[in-house]
Amino acid sequence: MELYEKTVLITGATDGMGKETALMFAKVGATVLIHGRNPKKLADTLAALREANPKGQYYSYQADYASLADVRAMAEAIKKEHQQIDILINNAGLYPDKRVITQDGFELTLQVNYLSSFLLTHALMPLLEASPEARIVNVSSIGHKLVWNSIKNPKFSPFFWRWVSYCRSKLLVVAWTIELARHLESKKITVNSVHPGVIRTKVIRILPVSWGSSVPSGAKTIFNLATNPAYATTTGQYFERYKLAKAAPMALNKRLQKNLWRASHDWAGLVIESEHE
Ligand SMILES: NC(=O)c1ccc[n+]([C@@H]2O[C@H](COP(=O)([O-])OP(=O)(O)OC[C@H]3O[C@@H](n4cnc5c(N)ncnc54)[C@H](OP(=O)(O)O)[C@@H]3O)[C@@H](O)[C@H]2O)c1
Repeated sequence: MELYEKTVLITGATDGMGKETALMFAKVGATVLIHGRNPKKLADTLAALREANPKGQYYSYQADYASLADVRAMAEAIKKEHQQIDILINNAGLYPDKRVITQDGFELTLQVNYLSSFLLTHALMPLLEASPEARIVNVSSIGHKLVWNSIKNPKFSPFFWRWVSYCRSKLLVVAWTIELARHLESKKITVNSVHPGVIRTKVIRILPVSWGSSVPSGAKTIFNLATNPAYATTTGQYFERYKLAKAAPMALNKRLQKNLWRASHDWAGLVIESEHE
């Protein structure tokens, strides 16, 4: 299947690397579905895609990842308009400056950076299964190596430290990626996670402005993992930019992966129907 024949969904596509990745897919002629939380930024991104390739097909979906109801509604809207997704890029993420508990009862970083991606991916599984060769790319961070885990408490510690919360959410992304790959073994769907580099977006704006690589250089690492034929059968792996890398020992811990799988179903209000789900 050529890239121009593929349907790609990119979450958090209204800024930074997500937007840049969407532009890259538009330029190769893929059908591009973008997600964002802000209607004005969604409209601006659609306009940018049309400018990059006026012949392309583009769709936009609005959902605040701080709301599981929004994520469910978005999945339903996508299912109404599309039969198949070939590439899903779970990219939406934030780096909040204070501790917020969402209406769903979770610490905001955990919900936006991990749980909403988990729920969306689960809800869109029938569309991924409809693809002859689907790929899921989960955007994580090298920061996942710097923290310990705490999946027992989805509100995380009352003593909020933004860096720890952020890195923990990315640790869960890496551990979930490995467990999800195991559950998808019999299907033609691969899933991998990637640290795109330290990239000059608003996520790292607290750092000196000169630090970090350009947004296109980060987006290219995501695009590469999502499209490079060399990774057609690679699954359950963690990449640092273009290289296969070793994830943190905690993310590789099978017990944690299994506990997280169960806990995430519970948090997202999903039922595990069989051992293979
Ligand atoms: N920058 C880095 O150095 C770096 C390093 C490792 C990993 N990452 C990861 O890379 C991914 C992309 O981040 P970026 O650096 O490109 O940052 P960014 O420019 O801030 O993009 C983040 C995207 O996520 C969206 N988003 C944030 N909160 C959301 C919410 N509550 N609901 C729905 N969408 C939401 C943003 O929407 P708005 O446009 O409305 O803000 C934006 O589209 C993130 O997962 C981040 O953690 C970044």
